[in-house]
Amino acid sequence: MSDPSTSRPDLDDNTNVITDATAAERENHMFTEGAEPISLWVILGGALIVLIAGGVIGDSFFDFKNLVRKDYVRTSAPGAAGAATLPKPALDAYLKVGAKAYTACAGCHQPGGEGNAAYPPLANSEWVTGPSLRPALIILNGLHEPITVAGKSYNGNMPSMGSGMDAKQLAGVLNYIRNSFGNKSDTLISLEMAQNAIDLSKERNGGQMTVKELDAKYKNDIEGTALDPNTMVDPKTLLPVAAAAAPEAPAAAE
Ligand code: HEC
Repeated sequence: MSDPSTSRPDLDDNTNVITDATAAERENHMFTEGAEPISLWVILGGALIVLIAGGVIGDSFFDFKNLVRKDYVRTSAPGAAGAATLPKPALDAYLKVGAKAYTACAGCHQPGGEGNAAYPPLANSEWVTGPSLRPALIILNGLHEPITVAGKSYNGNMPSMGSGMDAKQLAGVLNYIRNSFGNKSDTLISLEMAQNAIDLSKERNGGQMTVKELDAKYKNDIEGTALDPNTMVDPKTLLPVAAAAAPEAPAAAE
């Protein structure tokens, strides 16, 4: 065994690692035949072909419309999707809209309409079930100063709930409070009536209603034609539909 301190081949050899390695680096690499790297142009060309082919195939082969007979109209499965747009009895449709609008009232009048010490009840309230113009104007303008509801006195402050309320919302919430919490009314407030109440309310000077003003000027029902609760209406527009025509399969043309 030679002594490592005396045999130092690196220093004895006349090899310069740096120049030798860079020279070798400059040489063209040689590859085994068949394993040469592919030219960048071939890759780009291939990518372009894939791109165009994909577009062509995607356009025609995978369009599901091509799998369906021409002029085929898809009907919804019985009782499934599309039921939301089928005509509904007016009472159901209005109550649905009204229940949603009532969430703005429930914080004060309570979800069950029973009220509490500060807020008068809507359940069994003569102001709700009586002439319809009164609750309409109270909702649209708010109310202050003393009021007696179902035999109890209140002197609170209800803000106007009318901002952003259209005829649909107003009719919905009116029909809701007049037909919930044990209240029941024979006819429904129609969209036409709700719009009349909104128009009438705009003729006022603004400001909250008082019992005094209601008693002096607004003791009647809202003008317009009321709606039978059983009328079939479009659940979206709440407008009556001509006939309760369920979608039928078109008669075979033979
Ligand atoms: C911030 C609380 C508050 C909200 C929200 C509110 N109210 Fe009222 N409401 C009152 C108060 C307070 C009174 C009584 C005002 C008074 O004493 O003059 C009242 C009175 C009424 C009355 C007449 C009295 C009665 O109990 O029948 C009706 C009808 C009514 N509100 C309906 C509604 C409806 C519908 C909504 C929602 C669209 C609504 N209120 C939202 C506080 C509220």
